[in-house]
Amino acid sequence: MQKAIVSEKMKRLAFFLSGEHPTLPVSEVIGAIEAEGFSYEIDEKLDQVLILKTKADPTDISRRLGMCHWIGEHFCTCPSEELMKCIGSSDLVDFLPQSETIAVRVKRIKKYSPRVDTQGLSKKIADKLLEEINYSVDLESPDNEIVCLLTEEKCVLTVIRKRIDREFLNERKPSKRPSVHPSTMQPNLARALVNIARTSKNERFLDPFCGVGGILIEAGLIGANTIGADINSELLQGAEKNLSQLKIKDYDLRICDARELEIEKVDAIATDPPYGRQASTGGSELNELYKSTFPALARFLKSGKYLCITAPSEINLEKLTKNQPFDLEEKHQNQVHKSLTREIYVFKRE
Ligand SMILES: C[S@@+](CC[C@H](N)C(=O)[O-])C[C@H]1O[C@@H](n2cnc3c(N)ncnc32)[C@H](O)[C@@H]1O
Repeated sequence: MQKAIVSEKMKRLAFFLSGEHPTLPVSEVIGAIEAEGFSYEIDEKLDQVLILKTKADPTDISRRLGMCHWIGEHFCTCPSEELMKCIGSSDLVDFLPQSETIAVRVKRIKKYSPRVDTQGLSKKIADKLLEEINYSVDLESPDNEIVCLLTEEKCVLTVIRKRIDREFLNERKPSKRPSVHPSTMQPNLARALVNIARTSKNERFLDPFCGVGGILIEAGLIGANTIGADINSELLQGAEKNLSQLKIKDYDLRICDARELEIEKVDAIATDPPYGRQASTGGSELNELYKSTFPALARFLKSGKYLCITAPSEINLEKLTKNQPFDLEEKHQNQVHKSLTREIYVFKRE
C-alpha cells in the first residue's frame, strides 16, 4: 500500500535506538519508513542514534518499531564544548512554543563523554533557553521534553516527538501467550524482521515456517493480511490461539510443507525456518531444506519485494541462493547462545 505523499517538508528526525543489536535497529527504521511509502536520507549514524531526513510521520513510524526507545526532532550534533553556541544557531527556540512547560534531560549512552556532568549540562541548556523563551519547568509531564544524548563524544540535541510503547512489547512476550514453544521468537526481533521485510498494512504477508506465530503476530499487529504455514498441526493450533489473544483476525493458517504451499503472490516474507534443534525439520536435511525452499519463496514473492530469512551460521545462504532470482541486500549476525549464531539475511526479489 503506497500512501499519497503530500508536499510536506522533510523533517530531520533522531531515533534513540535500543542498542539490543549493533545493526538491526537501523535497518528496522529504514524498513519501516519504506514500508510506509516514504524515502529518507541518512545524515548520521552514531552508537544507538540514527539521524535522517524524511517526510514520514513519526507517529506512524513509532507504532511500528521494536528496537527503538523514541523518535525526536533533531536540532544539532556537536562536541559538548560547542553545545551552547550550537543551540543559539539551531531552530530549537523557534520550534518550542512560548509559555509551555519543558523538561531538559541529558542522557549518557553507555560510557561516552565521561567528563560531562549531565545534571550541570541540563541546567545550562535550560538557562540558555530561558534567555529566549518564557517557560516553566515540569520534570514529571512536560509539554516538551528536550533531550541531549551523549554518544561517541558528541551531543545530539533533540525534542522527543513519539515514544515507542515498550510496555506493549513486554506484554506480548512468549511467556504471556496461551501457546508457547521454545523455538518462538521474541517480539522485538520478530517485529524488526517484519519491518525489514517492508510489511505494509492491508498487504499480503507470509511466514511459511510459522510455528506458534511469533512473526505472524507482529505482521498482524501492523495490519497485514497474514498467511502462515507449518507442517506441525499442534503448533498451528497454538498460532491460532496466540493470534486470537491479541485480537488479530486477518490470518490464513495452513498445515502444509512450506515448499508445497499454493497461494497467490505475497508482498513480504519474514521467516525463521527450523535449525533442527528446538524446531524440527520434519526429517529433512537442513542444507537441503533451505535449498529446496528458495524456489518456492521465489514463486510466492512479488518482484521488487523483500524476504527476510534467518539461518544458522553453518548454512551459507549466499552460496545456496546463487542461481535464485534474489539479490542479497543485507546480512546481520545474531548470537542466540554460545553454540548458536543465527544470520539474518535480507533479499530483494528480482
Ligand atoms: C523456528 S520455528 C518457527 C518459530 C516461529 N517463527 C515463532 O516465532 O513462533 C520453525 C518451524 O518450522 C516448522 N517446519 C519444519 N519443517 C517445515 C516445512 N518443511 N514446512 C513448513 N514448516 C516446517 C517447524 O514445525 C517449526 O514450527
